[in-house]
Amino acid sequence: MHIGVVNAGNIGRALARAWLAAGHDVMVAKDGGQEKLDAFMEQNPRAVRGTPAEAAEFGEVVLFSVYWPRLDAVLQAVGPLAGKVVIDTMNPLQVNGDFEHSYDAYFMARSSTSEELQRRLPDVRVVKAFNTMPSTLLDARRWPEPKSVPPVFLAGDDSSAKAQVRTLAQDAGFTALDAGPLTSARNIEQLNVLMHLLADNQFEGALDRIAPTVAVGGIPA
Ligand SMILES: NC(=O)c1ccc[n+]([C@@H]2O[C@H](COP(=O)([O-])OP(=O)(O)OC[C@H]3O[C@@H](n4cnc5c(N)ncnc54)[C@H](OP(=O)(O)O)[C@@H]3O)[C@@H](O)[C@H]2O)c1
Repeated sequence: MHIGVVNAGNIGRALARAWLAAGHDVMVAKDGGQEKLDAFMEQNPRAVRGTPAEAAEFGEVVLFSVYWPRLDAVLQAVGPLAGKVVIDTMNPLQVNGDFEHSYDAYFMARSSTSEELQRRLPDVRVVKAFNTMPSTLLDARRWPEPKSVPPVFLAGDDSSAKAQVRTLAQDAGFTALDAGPLTSARNIEQLNVLMHLLADNQFEGALDRIAPTVAVGGIPA
């Protein structure tokens, strides 16, 4: 499959790596500083690099993995996406210089990043996925016991788009669980807030120690 990655940030690079290893063709793009992408390209010679607009055009599926305050700028940069499946990994958070996270509670009570993305891109099929998975854990090979791998939660209104994203999650080594329509993205984003609260108050901010607790007992057969 052709996959466009906008942005190839922490999450985007981890998934691009996994999808390249699974045999997909991946074009990566990034706004802002390019140094991290330079290193990625050296390590992943099969990856193709483009602008955000080129990566969006290249992908049958486009991973939209953008720092939330950058939404407007990146939407302007990507150009038309009509008909594509767009995977939203975002959480509606900001990070300050001390790496403290803050969420927009007013926005979260009324919407989700996925619904906002769908509103802004009415001719694509948005699927929420991967937003509860710390990027440090997005390499399934790091998990010694497959049953302990946290699931990827999906939400979306188009069943064929969700099926495609489920397959891509599996190709990256993860099991996907369907949470229902796109409005369920609100609940999944709230779960991410809970994970940050637990990490901050119990594990000195180490989010990667929280994700496995979401998979207590593993996935039932
Ligand atoms: N990181 C995770 O573990 C994780 C887990 C689940 C969901 N998510 C969500 O997935 C999306 C992508 O996350 P990510 O961690 O992959 O993104 P990221 O690499 O931190 O950032 C994505 C893009 O935004 C820029 N950016 C980051 N922080 C910024 C800031 N304070 N001001 C201005 N620009 C900034 C980055 O530029 P530079 O690289 O040049 O700084 C990069 O171009 C976000 O919505 C995030 O909430 C992240």
